[in-house]
Amino acid sequence: CSDRIVAPSLLAADWGKVTEEVSRAINSGADWLHMDVMDGHFVDNISFGPDMINAVHESNDIYLDVHLMITRPDHYLSRFIEAGADGITVHLEAHHKVGETLDRIRAAGCSAGLAINPNTPVEDIVPFLDQIDLLLCMTVHPGFGGQAFMTEVLPKIEKAVKLREERGLHFHIEVDGGIDATTTSLAGKAGANVMVAGSSTFKAPDMGAAIKAIREA
Ligand code: DX5
Ligand code: ZN
Repeated sequence: CSDRIVAPSLLAADWGKVTEEVSRAINSGADWLHMDVMDGHFVDNISFGPDMINAVHESNDIYLDVHLMITRPDHYLSRFIEAGADGITVHLEAHHKVGETLDRIRAAGCSAGLAINPNTPVEDIVPFLDQIDLLLCMTVHPGFGGQAFMTEVLPKIEKAVKLREERGLHFHIEVDGGIDATTTSLAGKAGANVMVAGSSTFKAPDMGAAIKAIREA
């Protein structure tokens, strides 16, 4: 699949040596680096904030795909833009004016992503279809790496593909959670083209082989 994008998730890296881990991902063939921001409120976990994004941004040129699992993305948005995010994905379920946040992301020259949790119907994104560059269909309940892929999300991906076709749009469809070569094949057949993979890449014995397997699955 030539337009497939593989995005290892930094959440699964060894944080004792973050810059080396990012270099390892780049040298292993990563297209994007996925960075999970968790506030201990929107999800039951705390990860890192804009300073981590900035540190990674300063150390290399890889595309930073920033996934904001935070309750008030509108409040923190400018800090993530200034930190060097290339794409910023916000949750539909968070507390903000979704359309305004998406417009602000684009106005700053970043790619605008909208994420939906496994239990959120894909129809809920319809009002924002013209404002997004990426739709993230979560394939686990967000908050932690290493969870099992939820196959029940696959029909939502197929519906998203239909919505996109009907309107002649071109946004990416990303999946995140439990992605490895096997689940990539399922998600790819349903229509997803951006594969976020934490455990199956950073924790693999051979990261290059793991990324290649996802790319070719
Ligand atoms: C989960 C995060 C994911 C996580 C995926 O809430 O959004 O990006 O890093 O981890 P794996 O690939 O291990 O399921
Ligand atoms: Zn994520």
